[in-house]
Amino acid sequence: MRSASFLALSFASSALGATYQMSENIVGAGFYNSFNFETAPDPTHGRVNYVDQATATNTNLTFAAGNTFVLRADHKTVLDPNGAGRNSVRISSKNTYTTHVAVFDMAHIPVGCGTWPAVWETGGSWPYGGETDIFEAVNGQGTNQATLHTSPGCTMPASRSETGSAPTTPAQLDCDTSVNGNAGCGVTFAQGTSNGPAFNDNGGGWYAMERTNAAISVWFWSHSDPSVPADVRAGGSTVSTDAWGVPSATFPNTSCDIASHFVPHNIIINLTICGDWAGDASVYASSGCPSTCNDFVNNNPGAFTDAFFEFNSINVYT
Ligand SMILES: *[C@@H]1O[C@H](CO)[C@@H](O)[C@H](O)[C@H]1NC(C)=O
Ligand SMILES: *[C@@H]1O[C@H](CO)[C@@H](O)[C@H](O)[C@H]1NC(C)=O
Ligand SMILES: *[C@@H]1O[C@H](CO)[C@@H](O)[C@H](O)[C@H]1NC(C)=O
Repeated sequence: MRSASFLALSFASSALGATYQMSENIVGAGFYNSFNFETAPDPTHGRVNYVDQATATNTNLTFAAGNTFVLRADHKTVLDPNGAGRNSVRISSKNTYTTHVAVFDMAHIPVGCGTWPAVWETGGSWPYGGETDIFEAVNGQGTNQATLHTSPGCTMPASRSETGSAPTTPAQLDCDTSVNGNAGCGVTFAQGTSNGPAFNDNGGGWYAMERTNAAISVWFWSHSDPSVPADVRAGGSTVSTDAWGVPSATFPNTSCDIASHFVPHNIIINLTICGDWAGDASVYASSGCPSTCNDFVNNNPGAFTDAFFEFNSINVYT
């Protein structure tokens, strides 16, 4: 009896190790309280003009009602090729986070030629504070890619417990921004519904990221996926990542001291247009997109009607 109850107790405490309490529930107009609008030029050379909060709300580039928050690029204006880029939005959380879980419940993500949406975290002096890309895609193509970008001395093992796949050369497993043209150590998701029209056609989905000093992991479940954990679906007051199964991407600390490569991070949501990745001539052409990226963006506002995020909530747990 004694040893059986000891066993039960030790199982209970190991499960508790990965149970988190909700610290923020960001919904609808709450996004305006929790995020700042950032208007600095896009460092990745996008054909984009990030607007301030007043402009975003006045022109409906952000919209909040009930449990909905929409963030979009302008889909009405033909652009002067010598003028500013397409109006869009970049928001950064007022709070910062170290070890935590963040669950992003999205009903819609931006798709279409020229779009480069991202949900990510960074902080401190880049790249010394580290960067975690949770959701990132270009031109509405392919599946999601989750990526770390760091200062030197953070590499990933080729073999890890994840459902996504990573290229395996030493350079591709090196998260150092000075290696491999700042490609980072990315993991491409196996799930076809993790991006593009398939994400939207299945009613959206949940992205969840857990950061501990032992690993950074990202999970994805489509809203049509019956295997989503009950605590994620419920968006309730606690989550237990132990029960979430094998992540889509995981970045363990085996040869990366996460505690020293990652400082407190802001959550950032931005939608850029063209630029170094989406607008790269070969990437853009291989996405089946017409003309050149900048020319297409300047002349075809109607192609951006689906270039929007719609959030049901962001829940943060610590
Ligand atoms: C603003 O955007 C929302 C969400 O897309 C939409 O429902 C609403 O009709 C738009 N309002 C105007 C005035 O265009
Ligand atoms: C990985 O993280 C765990 C938990 O914080 C820690 O005990 C361990 O020393 C770390 N290992 C390395 C190689 O940094
Ligand atoms: C978001 O900002 C980051 C860093 O400033 C930049 O690398 C990236 O291109 C931007 N992405 C989007 C989607 O705007």
